[in-house]
Amino acid sequence: MASEGFTIKVDAKKRGYKVLTQEQVDHFMEKGYVKLPGAIPEETMKKWTADLWVRLGMDPNDKSTWDKEELHMPTHKSESMKTFAPLVYEACGDLLGGTDKIAAKSNYVGNGFICNLGSPDFDPNERVDPRDLTNWHVDGDWFRHFLDCECQALETLILWSDVEDRAGPTYVNPDGIAKVAAWLRDHPEGSDTMTDENGDKIVPKIVKSCNVFEECIGKKGDVFLCHPLMPHSRQKNYIRNERFITNPCVNRNEPYNLNRENPDDYCLVELKTLHDLNANAVDYKPQRERARWVPTTLTRANKTIEVEVKRMKEYSEKTGAPFESVHANGIDNTWLIKARDIPMTA
Ligand SMILES: [Fe+2]
Repeated sequence: MASEGFTIKVDAKKRGYKVLTQEQVDHFMEKGYVKLPGAIPEETMKKWTADLWVRLGMDPNDKSTWDKEELHMPTHKSESMKTFAPLVYEACGDLLGGTDKIAAKSNYVGNGFICNLGSPDFDPNERVDPRDLTNWHVDGDWFRHFLDCECQALETLILWSDVEDRAGPTYVNPDGIAKVAAWLRDHPEGSDTMTDENGDKIVPKIVKSCNVFEECIGKKGDVFLCHPLMPHSRQKNYIRNERFITNPCVNRNEPYNLNRENPDDYCLVELKTLHDLNANAVDYKPQRERARWVPTTLTRANKTIEVEVKRMKEYSEKTGAPFESVHANGIDNTWLIKARDIPMTA
């Protein structure tokens, strides 16, 4: 039954969270994200980024070789979050209602780094109102969006380099979550593209009327876990400190449930959705079937696979570092389609 007003108290201890403190829980309920400082050990970060610049074909110490402002690198290897960063895995469990709610094969980390290297053409004194950025979105170009969607059940962000202000940190928009959630509640037919009846993107419009903007700034190895409906946007990298991130996917093995009999059974993401919709329960039922498909952006990084494989092989021969790539024998993205449980015929 739907009810007016959100009154549920969220006690971290009582709910038995493994990682998240009361402070982090309160922050998540207020802002829709938690930061896990130093969540990934330095050694792991080092190992995974050892050949990053080699793959790019750029010199980290010579910015004249940084000839691309932004690029999505292909993924050559991946590892389950459970073994890669157990703390992050457990924190995901705290948010999703237990690690048994994580769709296990979806929860991997890959080395498809998203690079934001800036440009010498940027005016270092430029100041842009975050509302005017054009890239605001919620993630998910491979499934139909619903309020309770189990796909990309968290918006995750790993910092693979130190990221500071003016160096292209991701902007998040905490007071946008409520408006995205309300839009999806009012559109139970779901949306494949997050666009309105005129074909205009919903999220940038929503952000125009928002007031709270925060930057995902931190040190290499820090992790941000955000509510799945958190609007976010890239920014220009004005000062050209290298900025590398990834957004590991995590699916839930069933949709969120916003209408539970016992409030103690809600997971933290459900509680935040309800908090922002100001109700202890929402009677929500999708009015169309759920759907997943192969995203067109999957091929975005394909054009650099072959050149990266060549550079990685050369690097491996020179240094003895292991050569690991699912593309060793040609471009192969079937692993990703399988990990996300996308119908192969889609
Ligand atoms: Fe995104």
